[in-house]
Amino acid sequence: MAESMKGLKRTHRCTEVSAANIGEVVTVMGWVQKSRNKGGIIFVDLRDRSGILQIIFEQSEDASRAVDADNFAKAESLRSEFVVAVVGKVEAREGNTNPNMKTGDIEVRATQLRILSESETPPFPIEAASKTKEELRLKYRYLDLRRPDLQQNIIMRSHITAKIREFMTKEGFLEIETPILNKSTPEGARDYLVPSRVHPGNFYALPQSPQLLKQLLMCSGFDRYFQIAKCFRDEDLRADRQPEFTQVDMELSFVDVDDVIEVNERLLQYIFKDAIGIDIPLPIPRMTWQEAMDRFGSDKPDTRFGMELVNVSETVAGCGFSVFTSALENGGSVRGINAKGQGEMPRKKIDALVTFAKDFGAKGLAYIAILPDGTRKSSFAKFMTDAEMDALVQIMGGENGDLLLFAADKDKVVWDVLGNLRLELARNLDLLDKNQYNFLWVTEFPLLEWSEEEKRYVAMHHPFTMPMEEDLELLDTEPGKVRAKAYDIVLNGTELGGGSVRIFQNNIQEKMFEIIGLTKETANERFGFLLNAFQYGVPPHAGLAFGLDRIVMLMVQADSIREVMAFPKVKDASCLMTDAPNLVDAYQLEELGIAIVNPKE
Ligand code: AMO
Ligand code: AMP
Repeated sequence: MAESMKGLKRTHRCTEVSAANIGEVVTVMGWVQKSRNKGGIIFVDLRDRSGILQIIFEQSEDASRAVDADNFAKAESLRSEFVVAVVGKVEAREGNTNPNMKTGDIEVRATQLRILSESETPPFPIEAASKTKEELRLKYRYLDLRRPDLQQNIIMRSHITAKIREFMTKEGFLEIETPILNKSTPEGARDYLVPSRVHPGNFYALPQSPQLLKQLLMCSGFDRYFQIAKCFRDEDLRADRQPEFTQVDMELSFVDVDDVIEVNERLLQYIFKDAIGIDIPLPIPRMTWQEAMDRFGSDKPDTRFGMELVNVSETVAGCGFSVFTSALENGGSVRGINAKGQGEMPRKKIDALVTFAKDFGAKGLAYIAILPDGTRKSSFAKFMTDAEMDALVQIMGGENGDLLLFAADKDKVVWDVLGNLRLELARNLDLLDKNQYNFLWVTEFPLLEWSEEEKRYVAMHHPFTMPMEEDLELLDTEPGKVRAKAYDIVLNGTELGGGSVRIFQNNIQEKMFEIIGLTKETANERFGFLLNAFQYGVPPHAGLAFGLDRIVMLMVQADSIREVMAFPKVKDASCLMTDAPNLVDAYQLEELGIAIVNPKE
């Protein structure tokens, strides 16, 4: 029995009604959170996106308190999630105020009720801090999105986006849209492809980022561009990764590293203060990539706690433990971390750390546990002299009660293992303060990375990133050592954004392609439009892109970016609500000239 709202107009959202309205007649509309029938008097919690307001329906001799019999009967039929309109008078609550509610000092005494639509019993309660399994919540995402905490996240996201637009516009950036259907320019993640009907056998690619197009906008002279841009990457999903996500993307002309960093620090300062009241002191500290790896084993260090890596290679060189010495002989290193005060960690827990380390590619994890009385337990003491052990403990700053953990391997493995072990220990030992916001610029990334699979260098950021001037000559001799004018902004161990100064000189760009194994022909085929544009006057330019989802996630202290996206996908990149991706009709495929080979059952 759905009634019309004809003749009624909403006057307030639920929590816009306040003590200032006492005595006024208001019209509110929303969902029934819950309804309690106390016989002759019914209390209804009415909910909309602003929050909850208590409505009271009363049968009474006193006409100034009463609602008529028809309306009372309707109120008796209310169930959770019915959508209703209520007209009533705002009153102060008599004696039973609720300080936990924004509208806890008032209620609305109803004179009229309309049931605009009814609801089945929802598959899970619509409430904050839901204990419902995420799969079920995602299947009924439209209901999940009614929950107050999720609503707050989405509202916060909208607010932050508006503030970013405001800031960027004020700073002279132009918001320009770039196409979603693009040419595939593989490099980086896998593309999502869209078949062309008009050009059978040909495909568009969805943008992994507007990178090349924004560089072309610089060639066109727009000078300062930004976009809240949807990006698509067919990569393995994690808590902070979705196949479809949003970048705050920007590009600037006639600038260098410091200019990009400067304006973005102010942007971050502005939105963090505005949205969550956090003061970010400027300038944000900077650390080179090399220092980040050496100290934290990560290019996105969480600097909220210490437990830094120590390179003990020199100390253990020539020692009796072949695990250490052979790692060194193979060009690797031996490094350790000191888990302060964990010397009495039970063997079982240490074993769990070893297993954890192996998940990150370690062949093992060597340890020295120093008990409070100074005696040592170690997995490799038998291979070492006392003097060698003493030296190792000393360089690690090992004191009674400490646990020293060591990894020996190629640098990359050692960093990855200890960097992750450090985070695991911090989580286990509760060292991470959620209310501390440690921003950090990581700069001077390597330009290139050696790909074992492809047996070639690949660009660490992307192939349009400018090498540092001081390293240009190394391009020919030791390309692996060349540092780039690339930077990432990191918050509490999460990469919020990254960017670089771009190559705008043909000779450097050609060299770059050559090093990553792109022939002139292939480079032209893929990026010809960009290279051509550079023939017609290209300004020096640089840029950066933030992950908007990640910014919001950290601001609202969510565990996953799914909590700040209206309709996220799950690990296998499907949508549990719509069942995308799905099979399509045969005629659609036929039209596209596509035949499915080996369809999965
Ligand atoms: P990059 O690839 O580093 O740079 O991406 C920029 C930022 O986008 C976010 N991000 C993601 N967020 C959610 N899910 C994903 N799958 C995902 N992938 C990336 C991260 C990341 O820091 N064009 C360059 C930027 C530039 O050079 O200007 C680029 O895309 O927060
Ligand atoms: P093993 O002699 O193989 O029993 O190893 C002795 C100790 O060294 C054990 O605690 C192993 O976990 C550890 N270990 C083995 N390989 C490595 C490695 N690459 N780095 C650090 N520790 C290792």
